[in-house]
Amino acid sequence: MYEGEIASVLVTEQQIQDKITELAKQIAADYEKEGVAGDLLLVGVLKGAVMFMTDFARALPMPAQLEFMAVSSYGSATSSSGVVRILKDLDRDIAGKHVLIVEDIVDSGLTLSWLLKNLASRNPASLEVCSLLRKPEAVKVDVPVRYVGFDIPNEFVVGYGLDYAERYRDLPYIGTLDPKVYGS
Ligand code: XMP
Ligand code: MG
Repeated sequence: MYEGEIASVLVTEQQIQDKITELAKQIAADYEKEGVAGDLLLVGVLKGAVMFMTDFARALPMPAQLEFMAVSSYGSATSSSGVVRILKDLDRDIAGKHVLIVEDIVDSGLTLSWLLKNLASRNPASLEVCSLLRKPEAVKVDVPVRYVGFDIPNEFVVGYGLDYAERYRDLPYIGTLDPKVYGS
C-alpha cells in the first residue's frame, strides 16, 4: 500500500498494539483504584483518534462508553494555530462523568489545551488525557497529558488514523512521508 510514499516506519503495528494493551491495563487499574469502575466515558477526537479509540476501547478491561467530538484548528495544513472550532460536539452532557480524552497526537498542544478548557467548563467529575503520540520538541503550551503511548521526533507523521490530505489514515503503523509527497 502507498508504494514508495512512506519514508520510514516510526512505530510498527506490533508496537502500537503492545502499547495499547499496556496502557489499557494501567488505565483500568488507575481508575479502579480511584473508585471509577465501569463508569468511564471515552471522548475520541475525530478523525485522527478513531483507530486508537476503537482498539483502546476493546483492550480496556473495564466497561466504558464512547463519545466523539470533531474539532478543526485554523492554521496551515501541517501546523496548528490554537484557534479551534467545534465541527461536531458531544451528543450528551458530561457533567458528573469521568471523562478520558482519547487523542491521536499532542504536537504543539494548542488543540488539546483548548479542548481541555472547553470540556472542563462542562463540569465532568474528572478529566484526563490519553494520547497515542506526543512530540516533546514541538510543544508550545504545557498540557497535562496523563497517559502517552510514544514520544516521537518533531516530524510530520501519518498512519493509524493520522492523515496527510485525508490519505494514509488506513495504514496500521505510524510513518513519515517521503518528501516527494509534499512536493509537486
Ligand atoms: P496540536 O499542534 O494542536 O495538534 O497539538 C493538533 C492536531 O493536529 C494534528 N496533527 C497531526 N496530524 N500528523 C498528522 O497527520 C502529524 O504529525 C500531526 N501533528 C498534529 C492532529 O490531529 C492533532 O490532534
Ligand atoms: Mg487530533
